[in-house]
Amino acid sequence: MMQFETERTPKIALVTGCGGGIGRATVESLLQCDWHVLGVTRNRSNFEVSCKPLVGNLLLYELDARLAFSESFHSILAGLVMDWMVLPRINLLINNAAVCPQDWDAVALRDAFAVNVLFPLRIYEAFRFLDSRHIPEPCSVINVSSGDGELCFFTTPWRSAIERLESFDELIDFMNRTMDLVRSSGLRAADVVHGHEPAYRLSKALLNRLTLLQAQAAPAHVRVDAICPGDVRTKMNTAPRARLPAEAAQDILQLAELQRQAVCTNHFGESGHFWRFGRPISF
Ligand SMILES: NC(=O)c1ccc[n+]([C@@H]2O[C@H](COP(=O)([O-])OP(=O)(O)OC[C@H]3O[C@@H](n4cnc5c(N)ncnc54)[C@H](OP(=O)(O)O)[C@@H]3O)[C@@H](O)[C@H]2O)c1
Repeated sequence: MMQFETERTPKIALVTGCGGGIGRATVESLLQCDWHVLGVTRNRSNFEVSCKPLVGNLLLYELDARLAFSESFHSILAGLVMDWMVLPRINLLINNAAVCPQDWDAVALRDAFAVNVLFPLRIYEAFRFLDSRHIPEPCSVINVSSGDGELCFFTTPWRSAIERLESFDELIDFMNRTMDLVRSSGLRAADVVHGHEPAYRLSKALLNRLTLLQAQAAPAHVRVDAICPGDVRTKMNTAPRARLPAEAAQDILQLAELQRQAVCTNHFGESGHFWRFGRPISF
């Protein structure tokens, strides 16, 4: 069991996909702002080799989010929760990990759904369980999504079907049925969504829907929003004109501060928003 090296109660953030890109930059920004960070990564040795010396206010945990649909995932996550139970409250959850498969087949969909949708949901459930053990205090959740998941890209029946999802169970059922349709009936990407990387788009649309459901169900002291970081130069996006990961990290930290203020003043109403460059955009 690992503990933070501190004498006072720290502000704690949990960040997934912290090994590279935006996640890595977000962890570095949080550490600079005196946060303590629980970083979830597939391979902690990658992080440790490239980030020596590791600071005492960063704890790393290994988890492969592609396992999120498997039976074993619950016991792996339960192991992490046991570790986190001895820590003070987690004030901020940043669900950042994602994959962006190019293909449209059952394997690509399973990867995209597992990492981009089910993993954020399971981590959120763990976060809520841990939070429920403390006296309510403002805390927040940021789901790092993408404008590629905006509903305007979807065909009318699929847009309506996504908008009708009203619970976490319905969302999981929807993912399973979609994988079945692709596997057994040859459902084509063009029937679902326009544009490249359709599995990624669908997963991000579902992450946005998940964000709304989480925001609706969350207690008043928990704020949930999604953010699109824009085009950012990472492994996922090699466009030369894209922004730097540190700029996206800054947006994420600013949103976290906005969320804290929103909870304290009961501003923005009850449901979550989808943010890009500091402004709400449409889901
Ligand atoms: N870059 C862009 O232009 C852009 C645009 C819109 C939205 N986004 C979103 O921004 C977020 C960060 O993306 P990025 O651009 O920084 O991409 P990235 O460099 O590819 O980082 C994605 C991270 O996800 C984690 N990840 C991947 N597969 C995983 C798995 N099976 N299990 C657990 N973690 C896994 C990895 O973390 P570890 O290496 O630590 O395992 C990886 O560092 C994503 O949600 C992405 O959809 C990015």
